[in-house]
Amino acid sequence: MDRIRIVGGNELNGVIPISGAKNAALPLMIASLLTSDTLTLENVPHLADVEQLIRILGNHGVDISVNGRRERQEEGYARTIHFTCRTIVDTLAPYELVSKMRASFWVIGPLLAREGYCRVSLPGGCAIGTRPVDLFLEGLTALGAEMEIDGGYVNARAPKGGLIGAHYRFPKVSVGATHVMLMAATLARGTTVIDNAAREPEIVDLARCLTAMGAKITGAGTSTITIEGVSSLSGARHRVLPDRIETGTYAMAVAMAGGDVVLENTDVSLLDNALLTLRRAGAEITATETGMRIVRNGNGIQPVDVTTEPFPGFPTDLQAQFMALMTRSTGVSHVTETIFENRFMHVQELARLGAKISLSGQTAKIEGVPRLKGAPVMATDLRASVSLVIAGLAAEGETMVSRVYHLDRGFERLEAKLTGCGAVVERVSD
Ligand code: EPZ
Repeated sequence: MDRIRIVGGNELNGVIPISGAKNAALPLMIASLLTSDTLTLENVPHLADVEQLIRILGNHGVDISVNGRRERQEEGYARTIHFTCRTIVDTLAPYELVSKMRASFWVIGPLLAREGYCRVSLPGGCAIGTRPVDLFLEGLTALGAEMEIDGGYVNARAPKGGLIGAHYRFPKVSVGATHVMLMAATLARGTTVIDNAAREPEIVDLARCLTAMGAKITGAGTSTITIEGVSSLSGARHRVLPDRIETGTYAMAVAMAGGDVVLENTDVSLLDNALLTLRRAGAEITATETGMRIVRNGNGIQPVDVTTEPFPGFPTDLQAQFMALMTRSTGVSHVTETIFENRFMHVQELARLGAKISLSGQTAKIEGVPRLKGAPVMATDLRASVSLVIAGLAAEGETMVSRVYHLDRGFERLEAKLTGCGAVVERVSD
């Protein structure tokens, strides 16, 4: 199994290209199930999760060609992928596939809207929390569907004539359930109003793509989204927005290691809150024409408290990376996680590098230390694993991160991007 070896101590200087957002690409790919025409997505990142979803969509009948060719590309940035689902050949999403990637449960929205029924495996919990699906079930029920749980599967059936537009208020903000409601409502009869909708930029990106496909949507990016159902959607061409979590991760890596890096093909407005926090920690950040520049010189890292919140708050997907940064701050900081109940698995691993962190419920208290020392550590989930890479960049000596398949789910060409800026990071195959 591959491991990542990092020798800490080098500053980062250079340019890092930011990829298309994984968490936008996944729902956009799923939206291809809504039309019999071709949906073309540009700037699709080359990631294990994207490849897995390609396999899942193939099962439902989506014909997929990468840059016009049917075979997969080995490497590459900014892939353009064509998705064509002339007919849905299978409305079953089996446990073997859904359990591997939670977002594949989201096929429930388009399958139900287009075919009127489907059977989709419950995704189960995952390392960062129990992650129930009650909001999906409630939301789709509000659109008139009959939802039944049977043997670990959700059987969903729309009323005769299709889903019916409705006014529904989510009791809690959910990114995934908002994506699903949005997709399902595009083909419902009448108007749907979703209140307390997630406001993440990835929701806005999906709404833009659906609009290009002929959907009638207003309010995406606010808490109230209104969708006027249409009888069918057409194909479209859409560019996946930049990955704000990848952007924030590299910004934190520079804040940690020091240096001067330009992050290209991204947009500072996607992560206002996280960048404000980084500025308070001592990084200089300026917007450039194609992204941003981040500089940290020898002034040390200031302690800053953060609490994760739905967008536009500080993202849970940057919590682990920020905690890694705080391990080297000049004082005491607190990180509170409010989205997932078990997203502190990196704490034990950061401690192996010499970090001083204590946990009390959903809050971690981090006492900054003057030095970290390299050690063998284990990746536990996608964002936790990259936090260990960030810590390794500033640790003395060698850090060896095992179970890197977590990293491959969400970070395109991580080693190449960091090495290009002077870091010593390599993949070691056993
Ligand atoms: C999305 O997950 C992202 N995944 C996650 O990124 C991200 O951490 C999360 O949103 C929050 O920003 C993708 O976009 C593919 P939620 P999602 O539904 O949609 C609870 C990463 O590292 N909830 O907004 O699954 C849930 O348990 C990943 O890239 C219910 O209670 O997150 C959580 O506590 C990890 N019932 C909260 O809502 C439900 O039916 C927010 O989860 C659904 C969710």
